[in-house]
Amino acid sequence: MTTEPTITGLPEHIPAHVAIIMDGNGRWAKARGLPRLAGHKAGTENLRRIIKGCVKFGIKYLTIYAFSTENWGRPEDEVSGLMNIIREVIEKELVELHKEGVQLRHIGHLDKLDPILQKKVMDAVELTRNNQRLILNIAFNYGGRDEILCAVKQIVEEKIPVDQITPELFGSYMFTKDCPDPDLIIRTSGELRTSNFLIWQSAYSEWYFPTTYWPDFDEEELRKAIIAYSERDRRFGKVSSKQD
Ligand code: FPP
Repeated sequence: MTTEPTITGLPEHIPAHVAIIMDGNGRWAKARGLPRLAGHKAGTENLRRIIKGCVKFGIKYLTIYAFSTENWGRPEDEVSGLMNIIREVIEKELVELHKEGVQLRHIGHLDKLDPILQKKVMDAVELTRNNQRLILNIAFNYGGRDEILCAVKQIVEEKIPVDQITPELFGSYMFTKDCPDPDLIIRTSGELRTSNFLIWQSAYSEWYFPTTYWPDFDEEELRKAIIAYSERDRRFGKVSSKQD
């Protein structure tokens, strides 16, 4: 898949959809003698840089894992801190994101969140719904198994005939139904797990596991990830297009 570099120093074939598990905030903070929430704040600052990088590199879809269905089990102050962070991101960044042409979408369940926060998220989604430069899916209170179970329940409720249940139909019941499957999934911090993230959609995604903690994963690291992706031979269960 490697091609000549373009003006951004990137190969021609860049991933349309990048998804990121932003891991390592806690360890980044610990290494500096700071509380874990300081790591999440630094991670949020970094997110702004990476969104800019994605726009610059022409990535069309970015999905970020901001809060999983399992993260409710973290200490109460960390959970409420993460809730405050999403509220602050919406309050402080929405105008700029909208100006940049970013469309915000939420994947997961809003219902467990504070009603004021739910409304903020829904308003942000509504405000940006026609933006097309970058679709930003924020996975907040999201879990891959939960997403699959929700799809199954809906399909059963709608009494869809068994012979109509194809991968395409099933995919249309996912929270990400209007997005192509992720081409590249990055998990920072050196952890080698998928942690219930996009488990249906990632069937043929390319994974990339840098050891850098999320707050330090900068535009240059993103560029390296894209170059690594461009060097992969994606076969989708078939044989290489390079073989004869
Ligand atoms: C994983 O690091 C990170 C999270 C569970 C939260 C990530 C959230 C942000 C960066 C803020 C997100 C922005 C929005 C839009 C809400 P960890 O805490 O598991 O780190 P550790 O493995 O080093 O402890």
